[in-house]
Amino acid sequence: MLSLSAIPILFLLQFTIFISSTPFNHASGAIIFHTKDGQEQREFDYFKLALQWPGTVCKGTRHCCSSNGCCNRSGAFGDFTIHGLWPDYNDGTWPACCNGKIFDEKEILTLLDPLKKYWPSLSCSSPSTCHGSKGSFWAHEWEKHGTCSYPVAHDEYNYFLTTLNVYFKYNVTKVLNDAGYLPSNTEKYPLGGIISAIQNAFHATPSFGCKKGAVEELYLCFYKDFKPRDCAESHSQNGIISSRSSCPKYVSLPAYEPKARIFEFADSSRQYLSA
Ligand SMILES: *[C@@H]1O[C@H](CO)[C@@H](O)[C@H](O)[C@H]1NC(C)=O
Ligand SMILES: *[C@@H]1O[C@H](CO)[C@@H](O)[C@H](O)[C@H]1NC(C)=O
Repeated sequence: MLSLSAIPILFLLQFTIFISSTPFNHASGAIIFHTKDGQEQREFDYFKLALQWPGTVCKGTRHCCSSNGCCNRSGAFGDFTIHGLWPDYNDGTWPACCNGKIFDEKEILTLLDPLKKYWPSLSCSSPSTCHGSKGSFWAHEWEKHGTCSYPVAHDEYNYFLTTLNVYFKYNVTKVLNDAGYLPSNTEKYPLGGIISAIQNAFHATPSFGCKKGAVEELYLCFYKDFKPRDCAESHSQNGIISSRSSCPKYVSLPAYEPKARIFEFADSSRQYLSA
C-alpha cells in the first residue's frame, strides 16, 4: 500500500515542473489538441470528479466475471467509488480522446492496489477506447478523458495518481454519513439536504445523476488547481440554459446487496467464490 501522505507532495512537484515546460503553447496561451480526424479541441476549463454509488449501479448486475467489482465480496460497497476525473468545458461540453496515447497498465502497476479498491469496474462489459477497440474501464477513462487533462495531469500515471489524491481529500461518503445519510433500502432523503451537507463541507455545489430515484452518480467539481467549485448544473444550447439533473426531490442511497451466485469467473481467485 502506498503512503497516502506522500502522494500530494509527489503530485505537486511533478505538477510544477510540467506546467513550466509545456510544449504545446498556442498563440493565445491555450493548448490545442487534435483528435484522430484532425478536429481541434481547446484546453479544458475545469475538472469533474465523477463518482458512482455501487448500491445503485450493482442493482443492474446480471452476471459476474473477474472484472466486475459488483461481484467482489471484499469490495467497499458502502462508499462512493471513482468513475473518472473528467476535464470539462463551462458550456456543458467536453473534450475527448485528446492524443494518441494508448493505455498501458504497466505504467500504473504501483497504483493497482488503491485502484482496485477505490476505482473498480462495476460491470463485465468492455468499454470502447479511443482506437476503435475495447478495453478495461481504466483504459476507457484514461484514453477518453485522461488524455484531455493535460497540462495538469501530463501522463497516465499522473492522471490516476491525481484522481486518487482528489478522491482521498474530498471524501463525500464521510460527509454524507456524518450528516446521517446512510445506505438504506427503505429511506428516502431530501436531495436538498444532501446538497447542503456537501456545500457545508466543501464550499461548492455538486451535481447528481439518478436511476429510478436512486443516486447513481455524484459529481464534485474543481478548478485546475483542485480548489472546489460549483458544478455547472446546466448547459447552454442556442443560448437556452437547461438543467440536466435526473434526480427527484427525494432520493435513495440503496445498500449494496451481494450477488447470490457467481456464474462465471475467469481466474481462480477465491475472492469471487460466494459464501
Ligand atoms: C476486491 O476488493 C478488495 C477490497 O476493496 C480489493 O483489495 C481487491 O483488490 C479486489 N479484488 C480485485 C480482483 O479487484
Ligand atoms: C471515506 O469515509 C468513509 C466513512 O467514514 C470511510 O469508511 C472510507 O475509508 C473513507 N475513504 C477514503 C478513501 O478515505
